[in-house]
Amino acid sequence: MTHLTLKGVEKQYGTGPRVLHGIDLHVESGEFMVFVGPSGCGKTTLLRSIAGLEDITAGQIFIGDEESQNLPPVNRGVAMVFQSYALYPHMTVAENIGFALKFTKLSKAEVHKAVMRAAEVLQIVPLLDRKPKALSGGQRQRVAIGRAIVRHPKVFLFDEPLSNLDAALRVQMRMELSKLHRDLGTTMIYVTHDQVEAMTLGTRIAVFNAGRIEQVGSPMELYRNPKTRFVAGFLGSPKMCFLPGMAHDEGSGLRLSMGDAGSVFLPDQSLPGGAREVTLGVRPEHFGFAPPGSGFKATVDQVEHLGDCDIAYAYVAGHPEPAAVKLASGAHMLSAGEVVWLRPESGHCHLFDSEGRVVNAR
Ligand SMILES: Nc1ncnc2c1ncn2[C@@H]1O[C@H](COP(=O)(O)OP(=O)(O)O)[C@@H](O)[C@H]1O
Ligand SMILES: [Mg+2]
Repeated sequence: MTHLTLKGVEKQYGTGPRVLHGIDLHVESGEFMVFVGPSGCGKTTLLRSIAGLEDITAGQIFIGDEESQNLPPVNRGVAMVFQSYALYPHMTVAENIGFALKFTKLSKAEVHKAVMRAAEVLQIVPLLDRKPKALSGGQRQRVAIGRAIVRHPKVFLFDEPLSNLDAALRVQMRMELSKLHRDLGTTMIYVTHDQVEAMTLGTRIAVFNAGRIEQVGSPMELYRNPKTRFVAGFLGSPKMCFLPGMAHDEGSGLRLSMGDAGSVFLPDQSLPGGAREVTLGVRPEHFGFAPPGSGFKATVDQVEHLGDCDIAYAYVAGHPEPAAVKLASGAHMLSAGEVVWLRPESGHCHLFDSEGRVVNAR
């Protein structure tokens, strides 16, 4: 079992701009850590740096207790699975999986045993004699994972391994990867730009933004208590809605005034220090309806019936983006153009300052 520690990791490609700005992170032994963030924020660069496929510009990488940033990739004990799983087309599945072991001291019988064991874990034993072209996308990805498993790495690194698969297969492979992690117990780092994958796979998630980690925590910690507007907006679907306005602490609670939309009083919130500009963030499941004339005035744009719930999209007066409001299925018969009054649940209001940092203690 191996833990992994990153200290002040920086990366610059040649004379280009800095891509990673001092990454500090500790990954516990046996943890399933997900790196999530938008395209171009440096996830792949960091993963390749851990694998030794990129030199870092500054900082340290400890794999277990061993300082590893200057070790060649083969000596780091990590195995990486890529998005494009280039299998050798002329080799069978068994040969593809066992390929990396060809250059070790293992006998043919030992390689065979290792390949069989990996194939059993991945449930691809019946495919061992096939060539890659006779496999589906999901089966090919399993072979690519098999190649990593036989090496018994101390840490698995996955770089968006499911993004070439169709939606249904992605869901299935997601569950299989969770199971694989339970079965093997190996430390895994998994990169994705998909917030659903991050929420469902990670024991912890590190949210990346422009070469920095914004926040690290369990999926529910990040969902419930995002420290920044970026994290709040990145996790959750439909997205949290953001409404700029003014906050006045009235002692017994906080009054939020949203211009044309009206105002709400939040009894269990406080923000001492006079009136200030804030952005209110509310998740779709934390809006309710208020009597006409109170709360925020909004106009329904459309309603989606998802079966288990309805999602109404409503324009809060004066705001360009519609707010998503999650409702029990069939509970409200809303139609486009209808005016409603929305009230956020006081205990679930996120308030952000102009830098996007959360300012209310929750
Ligand atoms: N080999 C490279 N040379 C120069 N710039 C690169 C190279 N690889 C990635 N970059 C740049 O580094 C930034 C981060 O890229 P990357 O790590 O691939 O992000 P992500 O995996 O989060 O999408 C991007 O701006 C990208 O253009
Ligand atoms: Mg990438």
